[in-house]
Amino acid sequence: MPEEERIVSPKRREEDKQIASFPLRPRSLDEYIGQERVKESLRICIQAAQARREPLDHILLYGPPGLGKTTLAYIIANEMGVAIKTTSGPAIERAGDLAAIITNLQQGDVLFIDEIHRLSRAVEEVLYPAMEDFALDIVIGKGPSARSIRLKLPRFTVIGATTRLALVTSPLRARFGQVYRLDFYDVPALEAIVRRSANLLQIALDDAGAHEIARRSRGTPRVANRLLRRIRDYATVRGDGTITLEVAREALALLDVDELGLDEIDRRLLRVIIEKFAGGPVGLETLAAAISEEPDTIMDVYEPYLLQLGFLMRTPRGRVATRRAYEHLGIAYPGGPEQPVLF
Ligand code: ADE
Repeated sequence: MPEEERIVSPKRREEDKQIASFPLRPRSLDEYIGQERVKESLRICIQAAQARREPLDHILLYGPPGLGKTTLAYIIANEMGVAIKTTSGPAIERAGDLAAIITNLQQGDVLFIDEIHRLSRAVEEVLYPAMEDFALDIVIGKGPSARSIRLKLPRFTVIGATTRLALVTSPLRARFGQVYRLDFYDVPALEAIVRRSANLLQIALDDAGAHEIARRSRGTPRVANRLLRRIRDYATVRGDGTITLEVAREALALLDVDELGLDEIDRRLLRVIIEKFAGGPVGLETLAAAISEEPDTIMDVYEPYLLQLGFLMRTPRGRVATRRAYEHLGIAYPGGPEQPVLF
């Protein structure tokens, strides 16, 4: 099954863009639920910048997909009262593409770069002086007569987002004044998000229903909102339209989302490690080949939540399934040390 079709995929899809757009997407830090420490730091930076009438420092947001990095970027621009332009690492193919974008920015504007770890080297080279000195170095001519001219830019703010901090080069990372990690949401925060969305979409949802959706959303608001809509469909067709605990349970069973929010692909990944590779360690590439997925997709999409649950460990020699993973799948744990010996 393609990753895009999974109900519990944290990857962004067309329907999420709709659901994330008006009226669901929070517009202010006050409306944004969870990530309390990040919000608190951002509030201080925004107030300080406004008091000094200066643009914000560049901000790097990182963490697993679906936790609200793009939403936060829009909120920051909104709170600063500036415009936001959006692009992504893979979309900027040449240095000239970046130059075209940044020469159109106004003083204080936000440039949001999603998947910033995927910028090419040549583009990064242009970005460094743009972020640091608000200058664009343009080379005119070729060969011995080539010379460089420096174009002054308005002061703007880059907000970069990445699922893979380790792949952001250190010179690029060093140019961000603020770096924030977004964490998986806890169940109460997800309950509040689901209730808020249900209100805005006029979906009848009781407390036990909200709790059940929250509990099975893998700590991810994007998944919670998606499950909410699917379960609403089920409630409309099979019930009286209200999402109760019973309706949520039935709908989730039909969607093959288990008690912890795992779907068939998550379980297959764990089962392959356990059954084909004796619980591991197994290298990422080998594992990817065994379940016919891209190594990057495994790292970005499947692993973060399995690591968070303590079902999977990354060791220097590869991935290892833990006792908890065996127990969840109902497979007898063969014994041995609870944790593999790390070298
Ligand atoms: N919708 C998606 N993420 C949200 C969040 N963090 N707060 C409020 N609504 C949301």
